[in-house]
Amino acid sequence: MPTLLIVHHTPSPNCQALFEAVVAGATTDEIEGVRVVRRAALAATASDVLAADGLLLGTPANLGYMSGALKHFFDQIYYPCLDTTQGRPFGYYVHGGNDVTGAVRGIETITTGLGWRPAAEAVKVTGEPSRADTEACWELGAVLAAGLTE
Ligand SMILES: Cc1cc2nc3c(=O)[nH]c(=O)nc-3n(C[C@H](O)[C@H](O)[C@H](O)COP(=O)(O)O)c2cc1C
Repeated sequence: MPTLLIVHHTPSPNCQALFEAVVAGATTDEIEGVRVVRRAALAATASDVLAADGLLLGTPANLGYMSGALKHFFDQIYYPCLDTTQGRPFGYYVHGGNDVTGAVRGIETITTGLGWRPAAEAVKVTGEPSRADTEACWELGAVLAAGLTE
């Protein structure tokens, strides 16, 4: 069964709302035959990534970059996964107070280096998530999971 790995750093209720929407989309009853694994970014390992067919990342913007937790995840998995995970589909969401530009740039740069394939448009949210924001996250989870059934 294909596996979707969700790697997230979720330090606040607003980030939690986006994470829950992503999980709900990925695990909707309409999509069958995909295993969805969630890992906090500080606990995710290279083995988790190697065992995944698709990846979904979530982070707040912190100090003009992705969270240290997600950066730590990438630092750990980059070389162990570089050879094997080229072409894997991925997506991500970012939550910030007012400007997620640096976080987005960082994620784009690292995933380009890894050779991962964007499978959905990134969801970028600032402030309290609107209904449209949580719906976009639901859609992100659903698109990533559904893509693994094809
Ligand atoms: C140390 C620190 C640095 C932050 N830096 C940024 C930043 O560079 N850009 C931004 O949009 N938000 C920044 N934020 C806001 C966080 O992204 C935000 O707190 C996080 O997404 C959780 O959202 P919430 O506080 O609305 O629940 C920062 C927050 C902290 C604690």
